[in-house]
Amino acid sequence: MNIAVIGTGYVGLVTGTCLAETGNNVICVDIVEEKVQKMKDGVMPIYEPGLDILFNRNIAQGRLSFTTNLAEAIENAQIIFLALPTPPGGDGRADLSYVLGAAKDIAEIVKDYKVIVTKSTVPVGTADKVKEVFRENTLVEVDVVSNPEFLREGVAVEDFMKPDRVVVGASGERARALMGELYAPYVRSGNPIIFMDERSSEMTKYAANSFLATKITFMNEIANLCELVGADVDMVRIGVGSDARIGKRFLFPGIGYGGSCFPKDVQALALSAEEYQYDFKILKSVMDVNQNQKIKIVEKIKQYYKSDLSGKHFALWGLAFKPETDDIREAPALYIIDELVKAGAKITAYDPEAVDNVRRVIGDKINYAEDPYTALQGADALIIATEWQLFRNPDFKKMEDNLKAKVVFDGRNLYELQKMIDLGFYYNSIGRKV
Ligand code: UGA
Repeated sequence: MNIAVIGTGYVGLVTGTCLAETGNNVICVDIVEEKVQKMKDGVMPIYEPGLDILFNRNIAQGRLSFTTNLAEAIENAQIIFLALPTPPGGDGRADLSYVLGAAKDIAEIVKDYKVIVTKSTVPVGTADKVKEVFRENTLVEVDVVSNPEFLREGVAVEDFMKPDRVVVGASGERARALMGELYAPYVRSGNPIIFMDERSSEMTKYAANSFLATKITFMNEIANLCELVGADVDMVRIGVGSDARIGKRFLFPGIGYGGSCFPKDVQALALSAEEYQYDFKILKSVMDVNQNQKIKIVEKIKQYYKSDLSGKHFALWGLAFKPETDDIREAPALYIIDELVKAGAKITAYDPEAVDNVRRVIGDKINYAEDPYTALQGADALIIATEWQLFRNPDFKKMEDNLKAKVVFDGRNLYELQKMIDLGFYYNSIGRKV
């Protein structure tokens, strides 16, 4: 099939590349000429494990190309994906100007039937708004389809190539058939392509992310309570997760969820509920608890040092909001840094991927180390904010030698409690005994 993908951000690039991988001809469009030129030269603008191999292979084999010319890209395309940003506007609601603007640009030049797919996470009713733009600007027949993405950063290629499900919100039979054909190679294992109406599809995306954010937040609260009652949240997690109705995944407590999706989507769903005069109480609590969870570890640190952090020096392992990404949007580490620096502490951080991004945002507010152990040199304690694999099995002797004191505040429960006790560390983690 011939496909056009408008927008080469994270979602657009993963979608375009993975669609090319199964033999489709994909043209990706972006308005930033410099970015397009770089992609033509084989330079991938984002970090995503495994994507570069597919990216380069499909460019080399002529199935994946890039342009700034919208007309050229859509001319032969049967399906056009809109993978454009929907940033929160001043009022917290998703700003649809990029999506609707691109729809208008396409409507003004489209010559024959196309399926227009909204891939970005958009509020319920957006597909109807896009349809309206086409009705107002062209007589050419198009179908507008909602096809939300369920890609996790860091494992996006796997999520795209082997999805648990593909959700397609489409009313027209012709559009359903084309979308079914396009996704058939990705669901050979038997996972479903679920067809529904556009509004249900848009809601599915928000409901999925909000449910997962709620699940994590619930476990964070259980962890907080475990600390008070003397239970071990790791045991509780395994105990409840073994119930198939609950499930093992997304039950890991920590320092709050971050990233570009959960915080934005939970807020957007709560706000759209408000628009319909519905008070979505759970989501409000989720946002509230998550905000506190991000800096709860700072309270623990303050408690340990009897509220006086002035002149204290902390090593911080992990800046990205989660492993396998350089993304720092809503990263708990940034909130922790903010609180600690405000309290007069000095920080030396190490992250395998995210340092450049952090430096761009907070500059030299903290120091950056080239490797995890250099970060520890002379530090009063280590704080762990991201569960990079590299931190899971450290050289504890080297850790001890570099740190000024054997003190670890672990926001991701990386180590066995007993082991840390045996090694003589003061080890303060989440939802477990100190
Ligand atoms: C999330 C969803 O998982 C994807 O399905 C969805 O497509 C994507 O948002 C999106 O809307 O684009 P992502 O934000 O990449 O993906 O990251 P996740 O792996 O879901 O993690 C989100 C946050 O939850 C991270 O801060 C992570 O540390 C935290 N988390 C996750 C926990 O604290 N505990 C867990 O058990 C799992």
